[in-house]
Amino acid sequence: MHKIFAKPSILGKKVIFLPECHSTNDLLIKKARESGEKEGLVIYSDYQTKGRGQRGNAWVAERGRNILMSILLKPAFLQPSLQYVLNLVAAMGVLGTLKSFLPEKEIKVKWPNDVYLNDKKIAGILVEGNIKGRQIDFAVVGIGLNLNQKGFGLTNATSVYLESGKEFDKEAFIEELVTQIENWYLDLVKNGLDNLKENYLNNLLWKGEMKTFQDNSGLFEGCIEGIDNSGKLVINTENQLRYYDVKEVRFIG
Ligand code: BTN
Repeated sequence: MHKIFAKPSILGKKVIFLPECHSTNDLLIKKARESGEKEGLVIYSDYQTKGRGQRGNAWVAERGRNILMSILLKPAFLQPSLQYVLNLVAAMGVLGTLKSFLPEKEIKVKWPNDVYLNDKKIAGILVEGNIKGRQIDFAVVGIGLNLNQKGFGLTNATSVYLESGKEFDKEAFIEELVTQIENWYLDLVKNGLDNLKENYLNNLLWKGEMKTFQDNSGLFEGCIEGIDNSGKLVINTENQLRYYDVKEVRFIG
């Protein structure tokens, strides 16, 4: 099934829906490699048999109730060392969309790009890039968003349904997501990183609060200051700055 979104101008010009697939990220990466698809192709599915999350985790979501989608970007203007910036674009698009559907709720981005509501995860993002020479040949932005799922067992997660008591139309939600991601992407192209980064930091979970973290030398108290120019998390602990990559630090509480 194919559909064209009316609102965005680059992303979502071509959309592919699959009732079931392995992983929308894997499929889009394959298509980008093998058939040179154009920037903006969106693939979404009702169910993934091998959904992938960050840090090699699986992404599991009930059939038909959630958003499982991937968007193809070709950010030739970005140096490979700045690929992390696509995490900010995606996180701000997801956050803005959730805020527009749940205006009363406090929604935050947990570094680098998990989206949280009331200490529970509501969406996750997996950006995977392919570098050729000194350029990003393409990048795939994968989004898993808990939309109409009614329970998560023991998992610390929530959904738009659980927060609002209402079921939402998946395609309308996806169209808004694509529009908001496109807006942040175009803002980055036109105006550079500053505005995007400022907005991201203003919505960052635990920023400026004294919290407990864990790294490979154990637990420590610290306060998130922001991110550095390579996207690392910067934590101030006893007036000393520590810099962390994704797998190097855990948020404890
Ligand atoms: C995370 O670990 O928080 C990131 C989850 C990303 C899941 C999405 S679902 C659509 C796309 N396809 C995948 O296999 N993963 C991403």
